[in-house]
Amino acid sequence: MSDSTDFDRPVLVAGGGGFIGGHLVANLLDQGYRRVRAVDLKPLDQWHQLHDAAENLQADLSLLENCKGACEDAGSVYNLACDMGGMGFIENNKALCMLSVLINTHLLMSARDAGTKTFFYASSACVYNAEKQKTPDVIPLQESDAYPAMPEDGYGWEKLFSERMCRHFQEDFGIETRIARFHNVYGPEGTWDGGREKAPAAICRKVLEAVASGKHEIEIWGDGQQTRSFMYIDDCLQGIRLIMQSDLSAPINLGSSELITINGLVDIVESIAGIRLKRTYKLDAPKGVNGRNSDNTLIQQKLGWQPGVRLSDGMRKTYRWIEREFQKRQTEHGRAPSPSVRHIPQ
Ligand code: NAD
Ligand code: GDD
Repeated sequence: MSDSTDFDRPVLVAGGGGFIGGHLVANLLDQGYRRVRAVDLKPLDQWHQLHDAAENLQADLSLLENCKGACEDAGSVYNLACDMGGMGFIENNKALCMLSVLINTHLLMSARDAGTKTFFYASSACVYNAEKQKTPDVIPLQESDAYPAMPEDGYGWEKLFSERMCRHFQEDFGIETRIARFHNVYGPEGTWDGGREKAPAAICRKVLEAVASGKHEIEIWGDGQQTRSFMYIDDCLQGIRLIMQSDLSAPINLGSSELITINGLVDIVESIAGIRLKRTYKLDAPKGVNGRNSDNTLIQQKLGWQPGVRLSDGMRKTYRWIEREFQKRQTEHGRAPSPSVRHIPQ
């Protein structure tokens, strides 16, 4: 468990203006950390969440000097900063994804020099060997399935390399590193349009657009048969906390094991919205692997816990948040929110 010294030393959340980083800052403040330092590349007015009780700074953490400043006195560092997004972004921006290696490398060097005790790295299920994800009825991925290495091109290679960098910084320099392999995380206060959104938010937005336009159609990337598991943000935060408090330095899955097809995800969103849409399938859209699920044997064994929020419950909260954001934007653009959005009593 964290000791009182940790509560007094600054905690750095790199990528604090992002989706998970923004939630993590709130969570750390709730845990009692008095000095939470959130740093992000984006100007503060573009952060998903801005917490007044934290120190909020804009800086490019791909630069060593900025990492040194961000890590000053930090007792722990959480690296959630990365140039990434859903399949639409990572398939088309492989070099940008790989450049995130600079962020983790410079943060590790700076944390080591600042005497930081524990360093958290947000890795991804995209590190897993593509051969193990060829069919929708995929066998859940165990931690050992990352090797032999054949990860997602670009983004996955960067994550795998950075995992190893963490491992060797622990072995050679003594900084305690913790690595979670997140499986697709969703929830309120995340990206829901613009090209970086992932399937859960994208499907919510597309359903809202279909309702607002009166054209009751939805375009789905791929054939809709591909499978994923999606983890609600509250589970992600609980997992980060437990992993940071543990002595687990090897990478560990942090994901839901509730497997669903993308068609099944659309079913859930349609039922929340109270609508049925005509589906079209864009087969040449970015699709990624055919199937992916998280094997949670290790996390259950080591931490006595695994993500448990049901997809239908998490999606209801996510849809309602995106619906409010969507309506705000409609109003800002001089259009009244669509009267046809029907609320079903939950
Ligand atoms: P996000 O895009 O919302 O947040 C990442 C933040 O990093 C952004 O706010 C971005 O501005 C910031 N950033 C990018 N480059 C930077 C730089 N040079 N300096 C400082 N800040 C920079 O993404 P997220 O969903 O919150 O993901 C957080 C972490 O978790 C990332 O490392 C991501 O790869 C990992 N991850 C997320 C998911 C998911 O489904 N959300 C899945 C697997 C792994
Ligand atoms: N983004 C998106 N938008 N995906 C869609 C859409 C849509 O409108 N319609 C269908 N999909 C399909 C994609 O084609 C893909 O097959 C599946 O939904 C999931 O897409 P994403 O949510 O974008 O990404 P992912 O699950 O393949 O990968 C994500 O999770 C990884 C961790 O598990 C990405 O966010 C990675 O960056 C992340 O590491």
